Amino acid sequence: MYPSIFSWCYTATWLFSALLAVEVTVNAANSPPPSRLAPLKFANTSTLNVAYYETGPSNGSAVILVHGFPYSIDAFAPVVPLLREKGYRVVVPYLRGYGETSFIHPSTARSAEQAALGSDIIALMDAINIDKAIFAGYDWGTVAVNVAAAVWPERCNGHVAANSYLIQNRTTAWVPLSPDAEALRWYYYLFLTARGAAGLSSNPKNWARTLWQKNSIGWEFSEEYLDITATAFENPDYVDIVVNFYRNRLLYAPGDPRYTDLAALLDAQPPISVRSVTFDPENSVVFPPTNGSSTAQYFTGPRCHYVLPNVAENVPFQAPGLFASAVFAVDGLPVVGGDYVCQKEL
Ligand SMILES: *[C@@H]1O[C@H](CO)[C@@H](O)[C@H](O)[C@H]1NC(C)=O
Ligand SMILES: *[C@@H]1O[C@H](CO)[C@@H](O)[C@H](O)[C@H]1NC(C)=O
Ligand SMILES: *[C@@H]1O[C@H](CO)[C@@H](O)[C@H](O)[C@H]1NC(C)=O
Ligand SMILES: *[C@@H]1O[C@H](CO)[C@@H](O)[C@H](O)[C@H]1NC(C)=O
Repeated sequence: MYPSIFSWCYTATWLFSALLAVEVTVNAANSPPPSRLAPLKFANTSTLNVAYYETGPSNGSAVILVHGFPYSIDAFAPVVPLLREKGYRVVVPYLRGYGETSFIHPSTARSAEQAALGSDIIALMDAINIDKAIFAGYDWGTVAVNVAAAVWPERCNGHVAANSYLIQNRTTAWVPLSPDAEALRWYYYLFLTARGAAGLSSNPKNWARTLWQKNSIGWEFSEEYLDITATAFENPDYVDIVVNFYRNRLLYAPGDPRYTDLAALLDAQPPISVRSVTFDPENSVVFPPTNGSSTAQYFTGPRCHYVLPNVAENVPFQAPGLFASAVFAVDGLPVVGGDYVCQKEL
C-alpha cells in the first residue's frame, strides 16, 4: 500500500491554494427550473422495496447519488444529465422513509441509524446487480456513502462526500459543542420529543422550508422546488425515520438488532480507503466549511478536498456542475493510491 503521508503532502499543498481560489461563483438565479426524476424503478432488498431513478447505459460505470434531509432525489435532477452525457449509469435511490421507498415487513424497525443507511446502498446494488459504483452524497447521504465506502471498499469505485466524514462514534454522542453550535442544531433536540415528532408530522413541507432557510445562507429556493421535494415526505415512515435518525445519534433510541455488529464496527470510525473527493459548501450553517485537515485521519487513500464558494447545504441542486465535476474528479484519481495531484478547482 502506498504511504498515506505521500497523498497528504499533495492534498495539503493543494488545500492551501484551494482556499484562495474563490473566483468560482455559483449564481443561484442561473439555476435551471426544478424538475422531477421520473419514471421510477423499484427493487426489493431483504428489508425495503427501494424506489429509484436510473438512467444511462446499463454497461456504463455506475454512480449512486444519495440525497439528504429534508430533501429528495430531485435535488440531483440537474446533476443526472451531466453524468449521463459522459456515459455513466446513474442510480438515484430514495432513502428509507422517503418518496416511494417502503418497508417490506410491517414489523421491521424503522431505524435510520448509520449502519442501516449504509447497508441499504449495498443491498440495492445487490438487488440490481451492480458490483461496483462511485458513491456520492450530501447530508444524510454523506452518512450513507461514508459507511458504504468504509465497510465495503470492494464495492466502491470512488467516494464523493459533502462534509467529508460523518460516521459517528456513539460514545461521544453526549460530548457537547459550543452553545452557538448547539443552537444551530435545535431541531436535533426537538426531534427527541413527542412535540417535535408531532410538529414534523403535521406539516413536513413547512419544516423543510424552515430548515432550508436556517441551514443555507442566501439560498433563494422557489416554492415550486419545495413543492416537488415535499412529495417525498408523504411516505408513511417519514416521521419515524427522521426522528429515529436524530434519536439514534443522540442515544435516545436503540439501534435495530440486525445491525448490532455493524453499528459496533462503525463506532470505531473506520477509515475510508477508496479514492475520495470531499467538499464543504461555504454557505452551509450546521457544518461550516473546513480545509479538510480535521478529517484527514479518516482517509487512507487518495483524497482531494474543496471549499465550494457561494454554495449551501443542497449542493447538487445549487451547484450541479460542481457536484458532477466531483464525480469526474474522483474517477480521475488513482484507484490504489500513488502519485496524484488534486486539480485546483472542481
Ligand atoms: C417486491 O416484493 C413485493 C412483495 O413484498 C412484490 O409484490 C413485488 O413484486 C416485488 N418487486 C420486485 C421488483 O421484485
Ligand atoms: C456498452 O455497450 C455499447 C453497445 O453494445 C458499446 O458501444 C459500448 O462501448 C459499451 N460501453 C462500455 C463502457 O463497455
Ligand atoms: C469511541 O470514542 C471513545 C471516546 O473517545 C473511545 O474511548 C472509544 O475507543 C471509541 N470507540 C471505538 C470503538 O473506537
Ligand atoms: C486548516 O485549518 C486548521 C484550523 O481548522 C489549521 O490549523 C490548519 O493550518 C489549516 N491547514 C491548511 C493546510 O490550511
